[in-house]
Amino acid sequence: MASPLWLLLILAAATAGSVMRVRAQGTPDSTGFISIDCGLPEKSSYVDATTKLTYVSDDGFTDAGANRNISAEYIKPSFTKRYLNVRSFPDAVRSCYTLGSLMPGSKYLIRATFLYGNYDGLGRLPVFDLHIGVNFWTTVNVTTLHQAELTEVITIVQDDFVQVCLVNTGSGTPFISGLDLRPLKSTLYPQVNATQGLVLHNRNNIGPSEEAAIKYPDDPYDRAWIPWSNPTREFLEISTEMKMKSVASVYFEVPSIVMQTAFTPRDASKNFDDIYWVAVPNHVYPAPEYICILYFAELQNLSGNAVRRFNITINGKLWYPGPYTPLYLHANPVYNERPLYGSSQYNVTLTATSDSTLPPIINAVEVFSVISTANVATDPQDASAITGIKAKYQVKKNWMGDPCVPKILAWDGVSCNYALSDPSKITAINLSASGLNGEILFYFSKLTSIGYLDLSHNKLTGSIPDVLSHVSSLKVMYGDNPNLCSNSNTCQTTKKMSNSMLVTYITVPIVALFVVAGTVVLLLFVIRNKSAVIRSGVKQQNDNGHKCVQIENHQFTYRELEVITNNFQRVLGRGGFGSVYDGILEDGSQVAVKLQSVSSNHGVREFLTEVKTLTKIHHKNLVSLIGYCKDRNHLALVYEHMSEGSLEQKLRGLEYLHKSCSPPFVHRDVKTANILLSANLVAKIADFGLLKAFKCDGETHVSTARLVGTHGYLAPEYASALQLTEKSDVYSFGVVLLELVTGQPPILQDPQPINVVQWTQQCLAQGEIEDVVDKRMLNDYDVNAVWKVVDVALKCTGQEPTRRPTMTDVVARLQECLRINDE
Ligand SMILES: *[C@@H]1O[C@H](CO)[C@@H](O)[C@H](O)[C@H]1NC(C)=O
Ligand SMILES: *[C@@H]1O[C@H](CO)[C@@H](O)[C@H](O)[C@H]1NC(C)=O
Ligand SMILES: *[C@@H]1O[C@H](CO)[C@@H](O)[C@H](O)[C@H]1NC(C)=O
Ligand SMILES: *[C@@H]1O[C@H](CO)[C@@H](O)[C@H](O)[C@H]1NC(C)=O
Ligand SMILES: *[C@@H]1O[C@H](CO)[C@@H](O)[C@H](O)[C@H]1NC(C)=O
Ligand SMILES: *[C@@H]1O[C@H](CO)[C@@H](O)[C@H](O)[C@H]1NC(C)=O
Ligand SMILES: *[C@@H]1O[C@H](CO)[C@@H](O)[C@H](O)[C@H]1NC(C)=O
Repeated sequence: MASPLWLLLILAAATAGSVMRVRAQGTPDSTGFISIDCGLPEKSSYVDATTKLTYVSDDGFTDAGANRNISAEYIKPSFTKRYLNVRSFPDAVRSCYTLGSLMPGSKYLIRATFLYGNYDGLGRLPVFDLHIGVNFWTTVNVTTLHQAELTEVITIVQDDFVQVCLVNTGSGTPFISGLDLRPLKSTLYPQVNATQGLVLHNRNNIGPSEEAAIKYPDDPYDRAWIPWSNPTREFLEISTEMKMKSVASVYFEVPSIVMQTAFTPRDASKNFDDIYWVAVPNHVYPAPEYICILYFAELQNLSGNAVRRFNITINGKLWYPGPYTPLYLHANPVYNERPLYGSSQYNVTLTATSDSTLPPIINAVEVFSVISTANVATDPQDASAITGIKAKYQVKKNWMGDPCVPKILAWDGVSCNYALSDPSKITAINLSASGLNGEILFYFSKLTSIGYLDLSHNKLTGSIPDVLSHVSSLKVMYGDNPNLCSNSNTCQTTKKMSNSMLVTYITVPIVALFVVAGTVVLLLFVIRNKSAVIRSGVKQQNDNGHKCVQIENHQFTYRELEVITNNFQRVLGRGGFGSVYDGILEDGSQVAVKLQSVSSNHGVREFLTEVKTLTKIHHKNLVSLIGYCKDRNHLALVYEHMSEGSLEQKLRGLEYLHKSCSPPFVHRDVKTANILLSANLVAKIADFGLLKAFKCDGETHVSTARLVGTHGYLAPEYASALQLTEKSDVYSFGVVLLELVTGQPPILQDPQPINVVQWTQQCLAQGEIEDVVDKRMLNDYDVNAVWKVVDVALKCTGQEPTRRPTMTDVVARLQECLRINDE
């Protein structure tokens, strides 16, 4: 019997190639800065009076929106030029700026400013969202007509460009006044990494006499240090002419001038308790988390017995371990690495210790909220191909930002898959009746996962490129393009047929093939996929793990899980680890959330270690771990959702069809239960490695139940000595093979409990191969192939571990079986 299903899938997946990157224009100046005055007339620029930085118009950075001037009555002489005009985006849901020529993997500070100034004459203050790439940055809530609002994010940019997108959330038209990008040293702000960014809450220079903010060039990164003045005169301002002797910390590099001024309480007996901030929740972060950085330097050359020493507390809890003494002219930051959370207000208190002769001092402060930047953009090759298509045909749709992510903002007419562990790929494009002119672009052939392409009802010319007709999985519709030739000889014919809908299928209809997926196909399909896993496992070992790919991983809070699962509403199943719930991520992708609540911290360390390992292992035949949650005593894992359930369910399901009157067989055979099937029947192994993690928790009821449940798969030496080796894996795999061939559970209960290995051996001793093969295969198989599979399975399940074959041998033999079966 032939097995075209997987061959086709492999063929479909095997097309690749590089693509020229199509990229927008906006690039940094010689300092690496990008300084944009949004809404400035095209091609114009000017030098900013205070920073001496050159600001340019935004025409090279976005092709959306319109320039507007703010209303004359709101113009103040003190305004920087930047605030006199805005770019407004009344038409699209998402409108983006593209900042290019960046260093992939580098850290950047990106700042956006907004001054409404009633530019639209409506007098209505808008609220809208800002995204950095495919991740939420903040909600911009414009609260005054005449004052500038500012937001700043520090993030790692993964690609050589980054997009800043304004998203209309139905509360007014998004607009923007200015947009700046500043490269940062990679050591700065160590809390920022590939999956976590910081959004500025406030940044203050404490105690300056001047009212102006410290900016570039005093701060080489052009951070704006806003003066914190002293209206109540409750504080004593201390300052020095002496420069800081060291920047002290490579982590924050606060400018010396900022450190040269400070406050101390006027009443020396008093605490300093005037620094606080109020949490600002938004719809994405209802419980925001904060990073605080306090900067200290002694500004007085203390003589003799003078001592300045104080405790630093936040909300009454000691924040810095032990009393703190600032060093003379040395700028030192005190900061948290793990975010503060769970409070609506954070009060910072500096309390002099009893042996201190001087009151506390503070020189500067920064507070940030934490955002996740774990969303991954669309596959770069697909993204640049579709960007090329957009540019060439001048597509007028909502084609802004990332083509696929987040799902609710995906481009009109573009369909994508959301595999979660991998970047999204484009699976279909519908450009029907989109006014396309010109030839069919080679870009289409660069979309390696595309299943259909509808180009009908356009004005395309030229011939259909060969390359498109060679992608067997692709269905292309060209109907009603009067001047398009399917090849040079048929131009005339095509023209004649232009009035009728001409649909050209250059395809094999894959869908039909899915329908014929019978037991044998399923069996061998799974075996083949399983082999791929093993093969990759072997490879990884040989390569010392270098093939491991770091994937997106994300720590969820318990509250986020509540949102994702809609309060744990739909149970998908219950397993040894706990219950599994159906969930939907913000980007619309479906996930499975496995939740366990533990009463003690026992096993938590093991859990985290295992999670770390799991997030590094990535293979298309392993169910991907998207993230995890360790929030107080909640432990949870978030996996990609496998819509077709487990292999176990498939086999049992088929069994149920055939013997609908027999009572359902209840047995938890964890191995086949852990081979899950995705919508297109790709087999993936789940729960990989977790057994080990929870063995450490061996005393609990959960683990015991789990061990009993998997009994049929345990190699004899493992069952007795509880020591997993490679060869015990080989044994378990042998049991899975037998289960597939025989259709029997790993342990048969009737008439007496017997495992499938012994059962098979007994059957073969007394009869023929036909007696062990699942009756549902209806003799539709090659006897030789099945013989070989059973032979491999029995060798795998041999009593003596050293005599079992290696996985490499197993793969080689199974491939031979597949060859026989295909002939
Ligand atoms: C805004 O004002 C400037 C100078 O006053 C003018 O040149 C420009 O055309 C105005 N732009 C718009 C969109 O009205
Ligand atoms: C915007 O700010 C105003 C005033 O502070 C507040 O009442 C409103 O709830 C905010 N809107 C959003 C969506 O945050
Ligand atoms: C980023 O930092 C956070 C908090 O320390 C951590 O949980 C996360 O694993 C880090 N991500 C990466 C990719 O290192
Ligand atoms: C600090 O004062 C001491 C004397 O009390 C003096 O020797 C020293 O040079 C001073 N340091 C600075 C940097 O002025
Ligand atoms: C912070 O200080 C304010 C005012 O002094 C007080 O009302 C509030 O309870 C304090 N918050 C916390 C969490 O300590
Ligand atoms: C400062 O903190 C220490 C603990 O490090 C504590 O023993 C001491 O009482 C605190 N002093 C004040 C004045 O709060
Ligand atoms: C493409 O979109 C048009 C309408 O916009 C629709 O009529 C057509 O069926 C779509 N094509 C496919 C293949 O779904």
